[in-house]
Amino acid sequence: MAKGKFLDLHRHLPSAAFVLVLLLVFAGFAGAFIYAGVYNIGADAPHSKFVYMTLDQMRERAIRHHARNIAVPADFDDPKRIATGAGLYSEMCTGCHLGPGVEKSEMSQGLYPPAPELSRGVNHTPAEMFWIIKHGVKLSAMPAWGKTHDDNLIWDMVAFARALPKMSPEQYQAALASAPADHDEMMKAMPGMAGMSGMKAGESAKPTQAGHSHAPGTKPHAD
Ligand code: HEC
Repeated sequence: MAKGKFLDLHRHLPSAAFVLVLLLVFAGFAGAFIYAGVYNIGADAPHSKFVYMTLDQMRERAIRHHARNIAVPADFDDPKRIATGAGLYSEMCTGCHLGPGVEKSEMSQGLYPPAPELSRGVNHTPAEMFWIIKHGVKLSAMPAWGKTHDDNLIWDMVAFARALPKMSPEQYQAALASAPADHDEMMKAMPGMAGMSGMKAGESAKPTQAGHSHAPGTKPHAD
């Protein structure tokens, strides 16, 4: 009896050959569509809802998957990270991501997908933000900063980005003003720079946990 039922059902299912032909026809249409070049790849033409939702899901699933084993460093809350992050952010990120009280830039208005204003808060965890900043996002303007910055500096950027939503325009300006003075100098001094972060010009340096100590009054320098 059971066998008869199964055969009945089988008769109503399309054959494997039919499914294969259908798939080939579909792939053929997709290939012709791409080859013809009719899809509007311009950044001034928003995606259709279907394409947008597909890409959005792909991005979100990929970020969650790739960030799953990233551990937040124990000293993530160290205020020095926010100070160093402020300097990096103002040099490399404001053109696209703006900041509290920062006017829209010409670049930020032309981006698609748009760069989220990080000061309005984001839905990603610190580990996910770390992954995004380090690796960037394909087919968007978000660069992979891990090509030029070590993990420690990237955590500084995450710390600053997470502090942004709580900052008034005045606090934001104050954070930028208290950041280490020169980006090139920070980059050159990279391995020992944890100690320099947050130091105001002319402020006496304290011994550092990661680098070297300076005599009081010594100017910051690149090793
Ligand atoms: C040239 C423009 C551009 C620059 C410069 C840029 N970004 Fe982005 N960023 C983007 C875009 C566009 C996205 C959105 C990508 C997407 O939607 O897939 C993005 C996304 C992000 C996100 C994810 C936000 C979220 O949804 O949670 C973070 C975090 C981020 N950027 C941090 C930074 C930091 C830190 C810097 C500076 C070191 C930076 N970005 C510099 C364009 C830029």
